Amino acid sequence: MVAAPRQITIRASAKQRRFLDSRAATVVYQGGARAGKTWAGALKALLLAQAYPHCRGMIVAPSYPMLRQAVVAELTTLADSMGLLHTWQWNKSDNEITLPGGGRILLRTASNPGSLLGATLGWAVGDEVALWSREAYNYLQGRLSDPQGPRQVAFTFTPKGTAHWTYSLLSQSRQGLEVIRALNRDNPSLPEDYFERIDRELGVGSPIWRQEALGEYVAFEGLVYPQFDDERHVAEPPPDTVWASVIGAVDWGWTNPGSLLVLGMDIEGRIWVLDEVYETEQPVEWWAAEAARLTRQYKVAQWFCDPSEPGNIAAFRRAGVPATRALNEVIPGIAAVAGRLQNDTLYVRSCCVHVVSEFGSYCWKQTRDGVVRADQPEKVNDHAMDPVRYGVMGFLAHRPVEAYVL
Ligand SMILES: Nc1ncnc2c1ncn2[C@@H]1O[C@H](COP(=O)(O)OP(=O)(O)O)[C@@H](O)[C@H]1O
Ligand SMILES: [Mg+2]
Repeated sequence: MVAAPRQITIRASAKQRRFLDSRAATVVYQGGARAGKTWAGALKALLLAQAYPHCRGMIVAPSYPMLRQAVVAELTTLADSMGLLHTWQWNKSDNEITLPGGGRILLRTASNPGSLLGATLGWAVGDEVALWSREAYNYLQGRLSDPQGPRQVAFTFTPKGTAHWTYSLLSQSRQGLEVIRALNRDNPSLPEDYFERIDRELGVGSPIWRQEALGEYVAFEGLVYPQFDDERHVAEPPPDTVWASVIGAVDWGWTNPGSLLVLGMDIEGRIWVLDEVYETEQPVEWWAAEAARLTRQYKVAQWFCDPSEPGNIAAFRRAGVPATRALNEVIPGIAAVAGRLQNDTLYVRSCCVHVVSEFGSYCWKQTRDGVVRADQPEKVNDHAMDPVRYGVMGFLAHRPVEAYVL
């Protein structure tokens, strides 16, 4: 006797359901923080893998920590409630899941765009695409050619302002693109005090609140770096670049993200932001290990650190990382960065996605009646902005010793 299929009920919000049911070639679930984006993307992937057992699909997260902590967490919880957790095969070395019916799901990260190449895909789900490089986005779009699959790609993300590259590509529904907009209040599982806290902390109606609570593309007013232009300033250094000096910069964080940046100055005096690490809730030992790894990889001569935590600087030194206090005068630092953007002597590699997104959203404080005060930056969207400033000022302190090729 064949056992009757087990009935399971999973409750999605109306907007999540529209996203799950969409057949558009590209479907976007655009929403604020905790709007149920990753949940919906993980469920979409499982449903596609079940519906199309003869092809491969791919789930792409911005980075390994986000893949592990967000996507895989939602995927395994959902797989458990669907009765798949003990029947799917998870090949850890290839990072590929095979469902009992045959559908396959590759797990990949956009921080390693090369890993998106090679596979022929029937469908794909991309989480937080505003934290991907445009290159990774293009690579993924180019993989959807398997005739056994629907060749649909689904993106879930919080927008990062109208200056961000996603705005021109993914903000408006059109032929082949369906955009579904969700508020954080559309997530049926969040308690009321969560919304109250977000409203209080970000300020109802503020640009950052509209981004994080309503999931809108915000035209940030009073940008600290209006000179920043994706097309002009996001670039790769030529492969034969000779580096006069490579330094690092550190902003400490815990609930707010901390970040490490590696910056190189070429022999023509241009500064390139070469690499970034951006994480929440990591102890200083973890940061020191990351800094030591980057020091070896890039031959970093000196790390310029947010001077507010002298104990952390001492911990870096104990771990053998050359660390010192950064010059922290805000306005001269901002003027130095802005001047370099203006005369095209500061560039960011596209892999440094948080630096790119914060350049487009880092604002001056505004008074309650909306007047921009161009003397104090807002203390949001600044976790990668402070270390850019420390780095640019650090080159003033750190005279190049010898020129070398990395
Ligand atoms: N339809 C739903 N039913 C139950 N829980 C949900 C649903 N949608 C989201 N959640 C839960 O809400 C929380 C936030 O959702 P998540 O997808 O992580 O949000 P986002 O990715 O938009 O920040 C997670 O704990 C997730 O499991
Ligand atoms: Mg998420």
